Order: sequence, then C-alpha cells, then structure tokens
Amino acid sequence: MVGSAQPLRQLADQRGIRIGAAAAPTYFSESQYGATLAREFNQLEPENAMKFGPIHPGPTSYNFDPADTLVNFAKPNNMSVRGHTLVWHNQLPSWLTGGGFTPAQLSSQLQDHIRTVMGRYAGQVYAWDVVNEAFNDNGTLRSTLWSDSPGIGLTATAYIEQAFRWAHDADPKALLFYNDYGAELTNAKSDAIYAMVQDFKSRGVPFDGVGLQMHLTTNTGSLASMEANLRRLTGLGVQVQITELDVRIPVDSSGNATAADLATQAQIYHDIVALCLKFSRCTAVQTWGFTDEHSWIPGTYPGLGAALEFDTNYQPKAAYTSMTSAFQSAPPVLASATLANAASYASQAVAPGEVVVLFGATYGPAALAVSQPDESGHLPTEFSGTRLWFDNTPAPIVYTRVGQTAAVVPFEVANQTATQVSYEHQSVRSDSVTIPVAPTLPGIFTLDASGRGAGAILDPSYRVVSQTNPAHRGDFISLFATGGGVTNPPSFDGLVLVQPPFAAIDSVHVAIGGIDCPVQYAGGASGLVAGVFQVNVQVPATALSGPQPILLTVGPASSAPGVTVWVQ
Ligand code: XIL
Repeated sequence: MVGSAQPLRQLADQRGIRIGAAAAPTYFSESQYGATLAREFNQLEPENAMKFGPIHPGPTSYNFDPADTLVNFAKPNNMSVRGHTLVWHNQLPSWLTGGGFTPAQLSSQLQDHIRTVMGRYAGQVYAWDVVNEAFNDNGTLRSTLWSDSPGIGLTATAYIEQAFRWAHDADPKALLFYNDYGAELTNAKSDAIYAMVQDFKSRGVPFDGVGLQMHLTTNTGSLASMEANLRRLTGLGVQVQITELDVRIPVDSSGNATAADLATQAQIYHDIVALCLKFSRCTAVQTWGFTDEHSWIPGTYPGLGAALEFDTNYQPKAAYTSMTSAFQSAPPVLASATLANAASYASQAVAPGEVVVLFGATYGPAALAVSQPDESGHLPTEFSGTRLWFDNTPAPIVYTRVGQTAAVVPFEVANQTATQVSYEHQSVRSDSVTIPVAPTLPGIFTLDASGRGAGAILDPSYRVVSQTNPAHRGDFISLFATGGGVTNPPSFDGLVLVQPPFAAIDSVHVAIGGIDCPVQYAGGASGLVAGVFQVNVQVPATALSGPQPILLTVGPASSAPGVTVWVQ
C-alpha cells in the first residue's frame, strides 16, 4: 500500500516546515526505499556519508560518492539536504586520531575539512550540524580530539565558536546548527547549550539553530519540560530542528513489539510533531531513518527496535498515522506573526479597509494562491482553505500561502479601539491576538513592493512614473495607497470596483518634496478592491528635479517617509 492520502511532506509543506529522514545510499537497491523516501519526505540527511571518517578517509583523500548519490537523489525529488556533521568525536578516521598531531596541525586540518566539505555542497546543503555532541550530560564540555585531547588550541566553547566561524566562511548561506542528544528536556546539558547559544548570539557569532536529536524511549520525560526548553531556545531568536527522532521499544527475537508499546510510541510521535508545530521557529522534524528495516537501534541497543514510523515492509505504522494527525490538527500559531500594511509594512495597528499582510502564520497552502472575485464581484472570505478573522468577521482574502496571507481589514472594525485577529486553515483555528484599530494608516504602494523607493505612480497616460519616465511639473499623476479608513459613502467589504462613481476618501493631503499639491481625486480605483484607493494630484510648478519624497496624509495619519516620485 501507499501512505496516507496526503503524504507527510505535503502536510509539512502546508506548515512551512521540513519533514526529513536520515538516509543511506546503499539501500536504494530496494526500490521501496527510494520510493518511500521521495514520497513522504521533503528533506534528507546522510546518516553517515558526510561524517569525517567516511568522507575524508585519508589525509588528502575524500570520498564524496555516497554523499553525492544522496544529494543527487534529493534534487529531482525536490528535497532539501541537511549536512551531518563536521565536528564530532565519533567516526573519525584513524589517520587523524592516531596521527599524533599538534593542536596547530589539527586546527588547520579541521578548517581545511570544513572548507572542503561545505564548499563542495554549497548551494546544495541548506543547513549543517557544524558541531555534534560537544557536551556531557552534566553540562561540562566533552573531552575530545577537537576540544582538549589535544584540541585545536582553544579552550572551553571557543573551539566550537571557531568551527562556526570557519563554517560561515566556507558557505555564508548555509544555516549553522549545534546538534546534541539528551538535551530535549530542561536539564544540565540543555542549560549548557542554552548558555552557549546566548553567548554566541550576544557576540554575533554566526549561529542559526539547535538540533535536538530526540533518540527517545517510551519514557520520554515531561512534555512540558521539552516545551519550556523549545520556548527558551527559540526565544533567543534561533531555530530548533528535531534531527534524529526515533522511539525505541522492546522487541522479541523476530523484531516484533507489543501492540501497547506501538501505541505508546505512536502517541510520542504525535506529541513531538505537535510540539514542533507550536513554535514558528521549530522548522524541521526528522526521523533517524524511516523504516524499521534500516535503523541503527537494534545494533546499538540489543533487545530494542521497531523505532521508526514505517515497518520492515515499508508499511506505515501507527506512529506514521499519528504524525499525520498531528499535522492535521495542530492549531496554527499567531504568537510571533505580524500584521503589516500591504504597501508600507507598518505594523502597529490596523485601519478599516486597510490591505494587510499577515506574516508568520504557521499553516496554509504550500503554494501561493491568488484569489479572484466571485460572481457577485467580491473577493472570497474563505480561500484555499484560509480565513482571517477580525472579531467575528472574516476578511476578504487577496492571496495566501503558508506564512503570508494578504487580506482587507473589514470596514466593520471602524467604531472599535481594538480587534481580535485570528487565522484559520482547513477549519483549524489559531489563537487570537489583539490589534489596536486606528481611523487611518495610509501607506503608498511602491514599485518593487518594498515599501520604500519609487512609488507605484502613473502619469496622465497611465504609464508608470520612473527615472526614465519622470513626472512633469503641472502633470496630474495617480498614486495608489491603502489604509485610508472609511469611505464616503461607506464601502462594501471585498467588493472589486468596476462601475464608477466610486466612494471617496476624505481629508487627503499630498506633499511632493515638501510642497503641498492640489488633490483632484481621492477614492476607489477601477478594478481594485475597496480599501485600495487612488489619489490624483498635480505635481507642483516649483517641485525640484530627481526623486522627490512623497507624503500622503489622510485624516490624522501620514504615510511613512522614504517613498519617492521622479520629477523632471
Ligand atoms: C549513527 C548511525 O545511525 C549509525 O549507522 C552509525 O554506525 C553510528 O552513528 N547521534 C548522531 C548520529 O548524531 O550521527 C548517530 O548515527 C546516532 C547518534
């Protein structure tokens, strides 16, 4: 059989996160191995192929073939590759461990190794476990070849910092992770990691995230403690990825586990996925392998096994089903989302009719979907499974994809001082956040949609005003904006305007280069949704040449500085 109707990777795409598996090229000889890997996962990580010993077996020889095979599999299957690992005490080659090298020699060998391996996969490996398992369970630094026996000549976490700096130089675009086991809960080890990350971030060391391995048993410890640990780590502004999840359980001599243990295991898989989905900075869940046919557990922990989400015949287990249900039922998170003016990206409040973009909601269509007006000429308030609520009114949706939804603030919020905003996808609703309501919050649309620079402004013949087509003094030009507040007469939510006359925006002032301009028209714009408005103004006879600052005031509020119009 095949997996669920929606494979894990589709569910993860709708959450904007990665779902990965550790993989080894030798297993591609089984056709189900590659088929399952590509069908279910949007990320893979070489289980061994990028470790120091396997990839750098002689002082001057590298064996890239197994790693290349995995990278070359990932590409056509649209999978991200996570690199593992550059600095670790295990699986080191004997030429290195037995070479009697000095700290100075080891230092240059490590830098060279990082440069060579990361350099080869730059642009193909998006994230690296730069350093793996550097702490003991009691929070002290592990004694290793790289740290102190003899080490690379740097004390305490300075050798880790050095590795991150070398890694950043080798591939400035790669995300750089510290990875460890037994640091899931708040404990001595995770305290030490937290302190290190805090120190690194405060001093600007290149550092992007913490990998929590999560080699678990059915006795995982408190989920609340794991949540507290994820909260404090993500609170430092770094990502967390779950990198090596498996849940080992007792098995008999034929490798079979009890139904009760399999059910407990399934619950843990569910809980870990749900835990990650609570944090917008938890960006991946990866299992250490995916089929019980190929897992490091039986060889490492005799009597234990059946640790993964597919059985030895590549059939999905209860653990798999419970992961899918966690993806389908975990509420989207708004806690760290922002609601910004679609033109200026200002984000302190919202105004009635303002086109806004919600950034950071953690559930939505994987691919961008742009709405069209329905038969009655209105933009839909539910689109591609997505809704954005202002109190009990759903907003007309302009476009949506996971992490970024544009909508029009309902005019109904006009008489309020604040509104409760919540977000919904596939009928699963988020927490709500309270946003103040302002009467107006004008923002001028800009040509490159950055909120700065040249405004989206048309000349009298509807051509875009730019450096090559500047506006002339005395011309009437049209700028486009949102956040003008209620209109006169009132507008209908989501109506795309076709038939003039359009409702007006009152008390509008425009200054170009600090000079007040006569406003000829301010109101709805043909073909655009109510809430976007057009202002026709005359360029002052005394305007200076070049990019002139343009400022739009509606009622009590003005647009942000930094938007310009070319005048010649
Ligand atoms: C394991 C592999 O799964 C085995 O095949 C290999 O023999 C030993 O290493 N933490 C890690 C992984 O960071 O690299 C380890 O992988 C498992 C524990």
